[in-house]
Amino acid sequence: MRSVDVCLTHQDFDNYDHEGKIVVVIDVLRATSTINTLLFLGADHVRPIGSLEECKSLKGDDYIIMAERLGKKVDGFDYGNSPTKLKEKDIRGKKVAIATSNGSKAIIKSEGSEKTILCSFLNLESVIDFINKSESDVILLCSGWLGKTNLEDTLCAGGIISGLDNFEIESDTALMAKALYDNTNNLLETMKLSSHAKRLSGYDNKIDIEFCSRVNTQPVLPILRERDIFLS
Ligand code: MLT
Repeated sequence: MRSVDVCLTHQDFDNYDHEGKIVVVIDVLRATSTINTLLFLGADHVRPIGSLEECKSLKGDDYIIMAERLGKKVDGFDYGNSPTKLKEKDIRGKKVAIATSNGSKAIIKSEGSEKTILCSFLNLESVIDFINKSESDVILLCSGWLGKTNLEDTLCAGGIISGLDNFEIESDTALMAKALYDNTNNLLETMKLSSHAKRLSGYDNKIDIEFCSRVNTQPVLPILRERDIFLS
């Protein structure tokens, strides 16, 4: 039987053997929600970047450059990491590079997996369908916040597990994520309790929390190929 496991922060990912497995990167607030939105709006591809310097250097290669630190847009970049501030006319057909505090780093860390796909609540069902039809074991990689576990990524991991057919739930983290999701009645109200929702609310990004809690509103599947993320 295939197995599903949950890694609660990307800093913990070195403890997981991901060779030959599907890795699902989750950063509900907000990197995987934002990347999903970029591709949904018609971006050609999105390149996740670890450092601000490298991200900035891609401006010369015709990339839209986006960067966030501590939840805020970084000066000198075209956008921060807010999915609600993206303008479709700027994005359609464009190459986008994005450097965020945790999510873009988690995606880069997943290199070496059989496949890396991105999940948020916006595309939850598309991810579940893909996993149910595949034949490999799965690791749900929550980005977390600067090495700490967070509520919204764990909740989304639980939502994926709840939709899986015939998977062995291998670990305590997977059991915890599923229990959290199964005992949540209202996603938005629960997400609002999270530390990152509180952080973002202080920076004019309250609207992002509601946007990122919408389930299956952007039914697409972002997949990492080499260094870039495309729609499947
Ligand atoms: C991250 O990578 O930690 C984020 O997506 C932070 C944010 O912009 O909300």
